[in-house]
Amino acid sequence: MQKEKLLMIPGPSPVHPRILNSLSLPTVSHVSPELVAELKEALTNLKKIVFCEEGEPFIVAGAGTLAMEMALLNTVGKGENLLVLSQGFFGERMTQIARSFDLSFDLIESEWGKAVLPEELEKKISEKEYRAVVSTHVDTCTGACAPVMEYAEKLKRRDILFIVDGVCATGGIEERMDDWGIDVILTAAQKCFGAPPGLSVLVLSERAMEKRREMKAIPAYYSDLLNWLPIMKDPSKYFSTPCVNEIRAFYEGTKIVLEEGMEKRFLRHARTAEAIRKALLALGFSLFTQEPFLADTLSVVQYPEEIEDKSFRSKFAENGVVVAGGLAEMAGKVFRIGHMGNLSISQVLFAIDALEITLSSLGYSFERSTGLKVAREILEETVS
Ligand SMILES: Cc1ncc(COP(=O)(O)O)c(C=O)c1O
Repeated sequence: MQKEKLLMIPGPSPVHPRILNSLSLPTVSHVSPELVAELKEALTNLKKIVFCEEGEPFIVAGAGTLAMEMALLNTVGKGENLLVLSQGFFGERMTQIARSFDLSFDLIESEWGKAVLPEELEKKISEKEYRAVVSTHVDTCTGACAPVMEYAEKLKRRDILFIVDGVCATGGIEERMDDWGIDVILTAAQKCFGAPPGLSVLVLSERAMEKRREMKAIPAYYSDLLNWLPIMKDPSKYFSTPCVNEIRAFYEGTKIVLEEGMEKRFLRHARTAEAIRKALLALGFSLFTQEPFLADTLSVVQYPEEIEDKSFRSKFAENGVVVAGGLAEMAGKVFRIGHMGNLSISQVLFAIDALEITLSSLGYSFERSTGLKVAREILEETVS
């Protein structure tokens, strides 16, 4: 039997046995009482996870990219202006989606490894009228975490919708929709929720829903959230067959998040990130992403001179841990390690031990257990 490997790519993240168990439950009718009850509760849980009381949650078969498309198509109409804040690959993807639907947009781009500053946003919105501003909370390509709370502060009291791509943040890094004034959070199942991929997940504020209603028709059918709203309100109704098993798995994922508690979960992600990064630095690696934009959900890491990308990652996988290579022009120069979802302390220590075994097998000289010691000290604080 093939030995299971620890998945530490920037999503999908390792799937907890409880979630796998829910996924393997029999496929029931999509309008059965069990599924209706579980979808309803998953929707309620989702709102709690993003601190939203009055808004509308949506869980639909798809992926993060579909959620990006749904967020734009249901908030920005023809002739209205969108402002895209980009710190990497997924900010650029947002502009590609806008272009595909002929939506007019402006772009503020940061250097890769950093994020757009709130002051840059403030200046731009004082020069021109925008219907919506969209930000990638954590860009999975550069590892940069945008200051979304500060962006929201700059947008407060303005008639501008604020859209946050939380695919690599929601459920692991704080996102307070009501308190901060976020109108749309778009996300997916396979990262901080620790469920298998296959769902597009969104929460829209009342203001965003009001905007959707004002828009009347939009160039979408499956992506039109007004087609899904009656189903979210009463899942015993039909629009398109939901992915039953995936919804059961995601529901279990939302329960695990709330059982842990949001503050404790945010703190665990922050501590795990610190432990992994400090261990890597102690072993001679460096970080691509710059302070203060480091993300609690993944790290983008530059190699010491002696280490070559492909042989390192394949040896690391042989030792039981799968990490990702760099995207776009960063391929070969960095590796990306995801540390999100339901990752346990023993899994983190296993990963750092496997890292040291990998470095030894590549003939890299360092003092054995250097990384483990650093990580253990930080993680022990978490449990004490
Ligand atoms: C920030 C961000 N947005 C959007 C996406 C797209 O999600 P998906 O791959 O599920 O389509 C990703 C995927 O990694 C992402 O990290």
